Amino acid sequence: MTAPKKLFIKTYGCQMNVYDSERMAEALGGQGYEQTQVLEEADMILLNTCHIREKAAEKVYSELGRLKPLRDAKPDLKFGVAGCVAQAEGEEIMRRQPAVDLVVGPQSYHRLPEMAAKVEMGEAVLDTDFPAEDKFEHLERRPKARRAPAAFLTVQEGCDKFCAFCVVPYTRGAEVSRPATRVLEEARDLVERGVREVTLLGQNVNAYHGGMTLAGLIRELAKVDGLERIRYTTSHPNDMDDDLINAHGEVDKLMPYLHLPVQSGSNHILKRMNRSHTAESYLKLIERIRAVRPDILMSGDFIVGFPEETEADFEATMELVRQVRYGYAYSFKYSARPGTPAAERKEVPADVADERLQRLQALITQHQREIQDNMVGRELSVLVEKAGRKPGQMLGKSEYLHAVHIEDAQARIGEIARVRIVKGMTNSLTARHL
Ligand code: 5AD
Ligand code: SF4
Repeated sequence: MTAPKKLFIKTYGCQMNVYDSERMAEALGGQGYEQTQVLEEADMILLNTCHIREKAAEKVYSELGRLKPLRDAKPDLKFGVAGCVAQAEGEEIMRRQPAVDLVVGPQSYHRLPEMAAKVEMGEAVLDTDFPAEDKFEHLERRPKARRAPAAFLTVQEGCDKFCAFCVVPYTRGAEVSRPATRVLEEARDLVERGVREVTLLGQNVNAYHGGMTLAGLIRELAKVDGLERIRYTTSHPNDMDDDLINAHGEVDKLMPYLHLPVQSGSNHILKRMNRSHTAESYLKLIERIRAVRPDILMSGDFIVGFPEETEADFEATMELVRQVRYGYAYSFKYSARPGTPAAERKEVPADVADERLQRLQALITQHQREIQDNMVGRELSVLVEKAGRKPGQMLGKSEYLHAVHIEDAQARIGEIARVRIVKGMTNSLTARHL
């Protein structure tokens, strides 16, 4: 028997890439590859990349430059680039870094086994098609191995919204939903392997229409015995229908946490961003969600320094943040992406954007800190995911997605532990096991 070949995957960017990396590892498993965490052991290094902002995309080239010398010690080592940079830049990657053997876009992962075989024969392979077939139907199923208690499950991919700043509609393509029957099958399979929480993933997950709506899918998933927690991300405000809002009040397994990006609090900027909602309609929506689930923890995304953003526009964003009080929020400086409509527009000076970003982040951190502090003394449920660094300490997530360290825990991995919060920090909470 020949020794298995080793595959090292480095994942950048969003949770969908995390899910895709798992599926790629499984697909290449059939080709004799075993995953390794040790770079030097690898026979193939695959970078699963992100193109959302310029910095994310450029990382790929610097990483490839750093990795290239590994081939001096191992001439047969292969380099692959997957993900959204692969889709957006295609052949350019091989031009800029000739060491790359394989470039594969997100819709072609099911063809990886054939591609790997060609690459092993010394061929350079590029595949950035948008094939008609559904890759998930052709991607090899996972082996029946135990899984960590919280898993991602992609249910929808791509986006038809075309926000003026965003590359996703170009890199991931048009919105496609996986059939609900397949999603339910995968969820049951995950549960059999120890999973208790699934996060349904989609670039526009609440536009899901795989034979039922997202609310319908959540209600079906809630019937799966052994599956205790359901989350979903990322959503667009315009796709939050009444049924989905009501599900937050009715489905116990649906966790009280919602990531609902707004991007800006200025109606002028929202219009220029092609967001097709206003600050008022967004706030109204949150009011409706909080009416059915008052304790829901809101999370969001913001872009500062979008072309034409004035100080007054930025102040409107600050005001919206003050009104919503996010438990988590991610804010980014606008980064012009080639091929998107906004890339043609005049940019806000970098120092102005930097300064606004700092102000926004300070406000968000202040709210986050206050919300975390308010958790002290409260009883929460924590899905225990792994052992902590200190002896006896376990680490997991609360229903609100806080990272929680449980001291002197008697809890096992996979258990949902009742805890009392004893200390709040900006990024995590400390708790006592009850
Ligand atoms: N520049 C900065 N941030 C961006 N995002 C998407 N495109 C850009 C861009 N060109 C942010 C948005 C989105 C999140 C995933 O990344 O806030 O919700
Ligand atoms: Fe990008 Fe999200 Fe807008 Fe779609 S809805 S274009 S993924 S920011």
